[in-house]
Formats: sequence, C-alpha cells, structure tokens
Amino acid sequence: MISLNVNGKDFQLDVDPDTPLLWVIREHLGLTGTKYSCGIGECGACTVHMDGEPVASCTISVKDAAMKNITTIEGLTGPVAKALHNAWTEEDAVQCGYCQPGQIMTATALLKSNPDPSDKDINQAMSGVLCRCGAYSEIRRAIHRASKGIRHERPGS
Ligand code: FES
Repeated sequence: MISLNVNGKDFQLDVDPDTPLLWVIREHLGLTGTKYSCGIGECGACTVHMDGEPVASCTISVKDAAMKNITTIEGLTGPVAKALHNAWTEEDAVQCGYCQPGQIMTATALLKSNPDPSDKDINQAMSGVLCRCGAYSEIRRAIHRASKGIRHERPGS
C-alpha cells in the first residue's frame, strides 16, 4: 500500500509503486484536471506541485510521491491562484485549453517564488510547458497582470 497526500487529503492506494503519479491522480483518484499528453516529461501538461515545486507527474513514480504534499489543479487555492485564474480570463489566455492546468500550476509556483517576474523570468519558468496553440504571449501577459494584482493587494511584498 502506498500512502499519498493529494490536495490535503490522505489516501491509501493498492498500486504498483512504480506507477507514474499522473496515472494514479487521473485513474485512481479521478482528478482529471491534470492532463496526459506526451508521457515522457517533455510537454508539462501533467504538471502538479510536489511540496510546492512544479513537477511533471508522468515522470514521478507514486512511491517517490509518497510522504510529499501533492497539489493538483483541483486543489489549487489562495490569492496567487485566484489572481492567475482571473488574469487568464481577462487576457483570453485559453485557446484549446489542454495545456492550461500545467500552465497555471507552473505560473503559480513562479509567482509564489518571484512575485514580480520579468519577461525573461517568465519565459524561463514557463519553458517546460508547451502550448500547441502558441498562446505564449497571452500567457505571459496574464502572468504580468496577475503579478500586478497580487502586488497591488499586498503593497511592498
Ligand atoms: Fe507529462 Fe507531457 S504528459 S510532461
């Protein structure tokens, strides 16, 4: 049995310890907001947070995720996530939508570590999440907008 904490809830799972975390999240826990695309750690669609850090869940075995705090798009809360959701809508960053959970998970981790990122910081942090619609400039604008909103709410931070 593998013990897993996802979105603040503890689960005991009878799965092969080498099963990719992505499979367990989607198939065993039914959290289908995390997307499967390449399956080899190249596209970022499956990004979740592991102890707050963005990781490609298709490359992490469930045994390596045990004893860590896993957050999926369904469990993403707080002012940074809210600011990003709003900015995503305002900047029309969603095209087909498939990569968006990975984009938002990665952008949240970026703004938590760097609330005022430059274009270069954004490009670097987001480079692991591919968008097949090519909405990179809208995504970058949305991150800047969310950044401004967060800093406006917390002046000086
Ligand atoms: Fe995991 Fe592409 S599905 S990186």
